[in-house]
Amino acid sequence: MRVALGLFAAVWASAAVVAAGGQQHVFGAVGDHHQQQHPGVNEVLVSWETQPGRLYESSRLIKVSESVRPRWLDIGSILALRRAGVRFMDITDAQELHAGGPTLAPSYASHLPQRLGQKENTKGAVAKLTEDLYGKVLEPFTAFHNRYYDSENGRRSSEWLQKQVEELVAGHNITVAAFKHKFAQPSVVARIEGTSDETVVISAHQDSVNMWLPWFGRASGADDDGSGTVTILEALRAILEQG
Ligand SMILES: *[C@@H]1O[C@H](CO)[C@@H](O)[C@H](O)[C@H]1NC(C)=O
Repeated sequence: MRVALGLFAAVWASAAVVAAGGQQHVFGAVGDHHQQQHPGVNEVLVSWETQPGRLYESSRLIKVSESVRPRWLDIGSILALRRAGVRFMDITDAQELHAGGPTLAPSYASHLPQRLGQKENTKGAVAKLTEDLYGKVLEPFTAFHNRYYDSENGRRSSEWLQKQVEELVAGHNITVAAFKHKFAQPSVVARIEGTSDETVVISAHQDSVNMWLPWFGRASGADDDGSGTVTILEALRAILEQG
C-alpha cells in the first residue's frame, strides 16, 4: 500500500485529479466552500471584475446531478450556480468517467476497510497530535488575500504550501511534488511508497474563493479548507514522529 497526501488545487476540478492519478481509489475530505455573503456588492461589479484565468477562456462542461444532462456553461453562469449554492462537478477534462451512464465504473468504487487495523500505531500517533501547525501553517496560509485556483494568488499560496510540506517530511523517504493543472494552482502530492499496488489517498483542497470577486476578493478560507489542509498535515507529522 502506498499513501498519497493530496492537497488538491480545486474541488471543481477534482474529477480531473482522480483521472490523472489513475490508480487512486480513495478520494476523500474535500470540503464544501462556504457561501460568502456580501450583500453590498452587486452584479454590475461582478461583470466588471471578471477577468477569467486560463481555465475560463472557453466554456466548461458542468454536471449538477446524475439525472440531468451535463451542460456547457461560461464563467458567469458557473459563478451564478456557486452563489445559488448549487453543487456541481466540472467534468470537462474527465468526460470519459461520466460517459457510461449514471454510476461510475466499478473500478472507481472505493473499498473501505471493514475492520480497524493499526490500532496501536494509531493510538501512539494520536497521543502525539499538537495544535502547533495551526499557528505555523494555517495563519500564514489564510494571510494570502485569497487562494483562488485560477489565479496568481492560488499559484503562490500553493508554492508556499509545498515548501511547508517539504520541511515537514525532511529526512524521511517521502517524495513531494507539484501536480500541474490547466489552471494556475498546482496540487501538492506527498507520497510514501509501500509494497503493494494499493493506494490510499488522504486529501484536502487548498483553494479558497470569494464567491463575488473570485480573482480579487478576500477569501481567507481558514475553515474551508485551511483547517482540513493543516489537519492532514498534522496527521502526517504525527505518523512520522510515531515512526
Ligand atoms: C526510498 O523509497 C524508494 C521507493 O520505495 C526505495 O526504492 C528506496 O530504496 C528508499 N530509499 C531509502 C534510503 O530507504
